Amino acid sequence: MSKTYRVAIVGATGAVGLKFIECIERRKFPVSEVVLYASEKSEGKVLHVNGKPCRIVGLRKERVEKFDFAFFSAGSGISTQYAPLFAEKGGVVVDNSSAWRMDPGTPLVVPEVNPQDIAKHKGIIANPNCSTIQMVVALKPLHDAAGITRVVVSTYQAVSGAGGRALEEFENEVHALVVNTTPPKRAIFPRQIAFNAIAQIPQKDAFLPNGYTGEEHKMIEETKKIMGDPSIRVSPTCVRVPVKNSHSESINVETLKKLTAAEAIALLRKAPGIVVSETPGDFPTPAEVSGRDETFVGRVREDWTVPNGLHLWVVADNILKGAALNAIQIAEVIIRS
Ligand SMILES: NC(=O)c1ccc[n+]([C@@H]2O[C@H](COP(=O)([O-])OP(=O)(O)OC[C@H]3O[C@@H](n4cnc5c(N)ncnc54)[C@H](OP(=O)(O)O)[C@@H]3O)[C@@H](O)[C@H]2O)c1
Repeated sequence: MSKTYRVAIVGATGAVGLKFIECIERRKFPVSEVVLYASEKSEGKVLHVNGKPCRIVGLRKERVEKFDFAFFSAGSGISTQYAPLFAEKGGVVVDNSSAWRMDPGTPLVVPEVNPQDIAKHKGIIANPNCSTIQMVVALKPLHDAAGITRVVVSTYQAVSGAGGRALEEFENEVHALVVNTTPPKRAIFPRQIAFNAIAQIPQKDAFLPNGYTGEEHKMIEETKKIMGDPSIRVSPTCVRVPVKNSHSESINVETLKKLTAAEAIALLRKAPGIVVSETPGDFPTPAEVSGRDETFVGRVREDWTVPNGLHLWVVADNILKGAALNAIQIAEVIIRS
């Protein structure tokens, strides 16, 4: 009989946590038991995993148990405090928060890009930021072939990236503006998100002294760590847009060696986890990509303003490939190894 695994999901009631359950079911992840943790206010709520009712356990230190895999998506405070406690019991923590990403002893992994780093873990593996994941999936084959020196990226990030409560706030605001009533008081976003665009992510304490935001800083530093190349210069502008789900990115790349658009398309076509559109009008949109596992690339064209430049339009489901799916894929690599 093939091996099965005891799995915990910490933050199971959230936007990412629910996707963990969906991925486990859809990908037939070999579970013997799944324990769902959330805050104590969700204690006793029931969710279903593989058709079986599963009661939420309120997270407390004395309730930490040994699991083969513990998938974390409850924010960086919880991960800082609890990921080491789960790791100490044995098994592997795969963490979706930013808590451990830049820790030198913790691998930061996208399976299509740096699966070799998984084996270096000491109990915790970090999942990168959602915006970084889809960007590096698309950059990796181009970097291997032509050496990327500089990336200028603008993101168009979906509301679901800010969590389940952000989606509710967005929908309530859209409804109020459409029916012409007073929008409810904002709790998550700093400005109107319905029919608007906000160049500030995260929504609180966003800006660093150099003018970049925390999200932009993550894209800069995480890219170097995942690609194993500290010389890649990334300059991002991260923008929240009134899209429910899936992030889009306009990416401009400069390379050491010239790549034509046709060569770039051929490389992307062969790369794992990518669907590339070959005709300009066949570009991906977030609505169409939601629910899909792959990273979609379109509008591949040469940048006429520099000798070795390319433009890409990259779209992926931020809660799937940008979060839960990437973590499950890391665990699947461990199971196969
Ligand atoms: N959304 C994305 O696209 C995305 C992508 C990549 C990474 N991430 C990261 O994933 C994490 C979760 O994001 P999300 O979007 O799923 O947020 P969310 O929808 O707000 O869900 C947060 C989850 O954390 C749980 N939680 C809150 N306080 C807790 C506590 N004290 N103890 C145990 N559980 C607690 C919540 O449980 P209750 O329901 O009981 O409050 C809920 O299950 C964050 O670190 C985020 O940065 C998110």
